[in-house]
Amino acid sequence: MTHEFVFLVLTCAISGCLSQCSQNNVYKDILEKKTLNFTQIARQVGLAVEEYDVTTQDAYILKLFHIPGDRTRPVLLMHGIIDSADTFILRGNTSLAAALSRAGYDVWVGNTRGNRYSRRHVYLNPDDDVEFWDFSFHEQGFYDLPATIDFILDQTGAAALSAVGHSQGNTIFLVLGATKPEYNEKIKVIIALSPICFLNNLKNAPSLIVSSMSFVDQIFKITGQEEFLGDDTLAGRLFRAVCGCKKSYGFCAHGIFFAIAGSDPEEMESDFLPTVVAHYPTGTSKKNAVHVSQIGLKKKFSTYDYEWRNMDIYNSTTPPEYDLSKVTMRVALLAGRNDQISTLKDVELLKNKLPNVVEYKVINHKKFNHMDAVWGRNMYKYLFPEILKVLVMFS
Ligand SMILES: *[C@@H]1O[C@H](CO)[C@@H](O)[C@H](O)[C@H]1NC(C)=O
Ligand SMILES: *[C@@H]1O[C@H](CO)[C@@H](O)[C@H](O)[C@H]1NC(C)=O
Ligand SMILES: *[C@@H]1O[C@H](CO)[C@@H](O)[C@H](O)[C@H]1NC(C)=O
Repeated sequence: MTHEFVFLVLTCAISGCLSQCSQNNVYKDILEKKTLNFTQIARQVGLAVEEYDVTTQDAYILKLFHIPGDRTRPVLLMHGIIDSADTFILRGNTSLAAALSRAGYDVWVGNTRGNRYSRRHVYLNPDDDVEFWDFSFHEQGFYDLPATIDFILDQTGAAALSAVGHSQGNTIFLVLGATKPEYNEKIKVIIALSPICFLNNLKNAPSLIVSSMSFVDQIFKITGQEEFLGDDTLAGRLFRAVCGCKKSYGFCAHGIFFAIAGSDPEEMESDFLPTVVAHYPTGTSKKNAVHVSQIGLKKKFSTYDYEWRNMDIYNSTTPPEYDLSKVTMRVALLAGRNDQISTLKDVELLKNKLPNVVEYKVINHKKFNHMDAVWGRNMYKYLFPEILKVLVMFS
């Protein structure tokens, strides 16, 4: 089945999709990467944006966007895997960043190491130094979040901030709370959209992807590549070439996005897909993808498994599990029935392990999948009121 899927992608890419794609059938700005950045999209809907660089303790340079509002009410938005800050503004004025800004919040939108905006380091070069890519969501939680949070608290003078995370954008808060418990007090509440922690009950394509990661890892080892689905990687370019074709909606939407995240065509219409493709995926490390697959395969929320090196690194043959009892920050879990990645069963497992869950809600939109929380056409109707309710309660 996995090989079939790979075969399908390759066949379609090399023969069908591309040959159908004459010059007037492609989205040129996608192929030429002339896409608007966060600041430009926000400006189009009348929002002013400030850009900051935040340097982490281990010298990564992260881009942080700020839409100024009431400084006593800062909210930090964190994107998921191979995604970026753009995800929270792609829908223009019906995006979460715009909605929170209109509601008066001081909106900060972060970028974790390795993506389009945070592919920078004080002395490592992401194109030449493989060490740059030696990270997973562990380092994003352990280094990127504290640097980002402290920067915001310093700028605003607030003692704590609220946060909204999507997918792996929540996992990193769990890592932070478990590994640096003093940060629990700096977070008033984290609203977890499509939360990712345990991956014991993945469905369909996501489960196949997790089980084929070791195969992908082998291929990467042969080619020596450490960057995963970055803008200029072969896979990233191939994806844009295929899905940047106007005739590819069927294949890209149904064969890739819906197959992985759960199907909800009404919420990602054909006119909107090119916008998504122009901004997603936008890169992470192979190690991050492998770490995620380890969580799914071992059915344990653990640190990275270095195999024979575990003893040196952890003084234990198995990687230690993250201690969720130390994650004492308030957590609101907003999940979807049709989410094939963050399944209700796994969200419930998380709910039972966390000491301070203040809200658990299955979103009232039957087909709510793993992407609707950031890209859904009508998310401002069925999701944003739930987010605002929790924010008002705790900020
Ligand atoms: C976004 O685009 C604007 C306008 O071209 C530019 O000034 C700004 O530096 C860009 N920001 C980033 C993070 O790329
Ligand atoms: C977004 O902007 C359009 C056009 O200005 C407007 O009709 C619509 O009501 C706005 N939507 C929201 C959620 O603000
Ligand atoms: C390593 O683990 C052993 C057994 O759990 C323990 O006795 C020892 O003190 C640990 N060593 C270090 C350096 O933490």
